[in-house]
Amino acid sequence: MSIDLTFGGRVKVPLIVAPMFLTSNPPMAIAACSRGVIGSYPAHATRTREIFADWLVETEEGLSQYDSPAPFAVNLVVHPTNERYPGDLELCAKHKVPIILTSKGAPEDAFGRIHEWGGVAFHDVASARHAEKAVAAGADAVIAVCAGAGGHTGTINPFALINEIREVTDKPIILAGGMSTGRDILAAQAMGASMGYFGTRFIATEECLADEEQRRIMIECTAKDVFFSAALDGAPANWLRPTLIEAGLDPDDIPAYSKGMSVINPKKMEGRYTRIKSAGHGVGMIKSVERTSDLCDQIILEYEVAKTEFGKFIGAPGQVSAAPAV
Ligand SMILES: Cc1cc2nc3c(=O)[nH]c(=O)nc-3n(C[C@H](O)[C@H](O)[C@H](O)COP(=O)(O)O)c2cc1C
Repeated sequence: MSIDLTFGGRVKVPLIVAPMFLTSNPPMAIAACSRGVIGSYPAHATRTREIFADWLVETEEGLSQYDSPAPFAVNLVVHPTNERYPGDLELCAKHKVPIILTSKGAPEDAFGRIHEWGGVAFHDVASARHAEKAVAAGADAVIAVCAGAGGHTGTINPFALINEIREVTDKPIILAGGMSTGRDILAAQAMGASMGYFGTRFIATEECLADEEQRRIMIECTAKDVFFSAALDGAPANWLRPTLIEAGLDPDDIPAYSKGMSVINPKKMEGRYTRIKSAGHGVGMIKSVERTSDLCDQIILEYEVAKTEFGKFIGAPGQVSAAPAV
């Protein structure tokens, strides 16, 4: 059964503001949903289940102030190594969280439980094999995390990954990695994706948990400052070079890959996500601190303009034209 990704017309632009550890929070999610964009946060960003429960109540109360806001989403690490997972899942069931963004593992029982309360599950994947397994287990859509994404990243080019995923499933694909504008969302749709998934673009927003220093770094950095390595914590990830240097690490001395886990002194790794910041290749598009609602409105407008411009550009079958420089 295909799902309605507009959620009854409440989603005004096919976009999810992606969950970001120590960055996303209920105010940011509420602001996004209020403008018709799906907002989210990770359950594991809360230190305890009690705080997670408070976040869910805050989100529900915040959204109740608006007419037809977009639905919100929670990111759950559905893997046995996450001790909080079964209890957090039950809390989501109690609150009937509309969308669960699942990552790691792809357990059938988790997808089954989410469907029982009427929720939908979108699962993070970095390869066609992951996508095949997630869909077989019951995921409603896959989030294709490509090279250039913030946080733990994929390593495959988006064209290549979408094409390979399309060979194994016809479920919706949500594209992630380096996307920043409404035009990027339209481009993703032209590639065969249904929605975009933006993390980095929202790091410097007013509502989120980023502090002044983090916002300043985000504004100053561009794609050339993004440093890829799986050697920091064992998983492929993108980090900001200046923050590695500030933490006493030499990026030129850190290998891209290492066998098994981190090769970095654990003391220095303690600052991961606090002192050592993560961002994706799209970081250069952050020019100032903005309100989440304004940024969402801007992206909606960009998407609409891009649709109009490309409508003219596409022309009749057989007609070849140059892309407009919008
Ligand atoms: C600072 C930061 C923290 C992140 N934390 C999480 C997380 O806790 N859970 C998760 O599923 N993804 C996390 N991500 C990845 C995002 O959800 C998303 O896949 C990514 O930001 C998309 O790529 P983009 O940053 O280039 O837009 C994080 C990304 C960033 C930048």
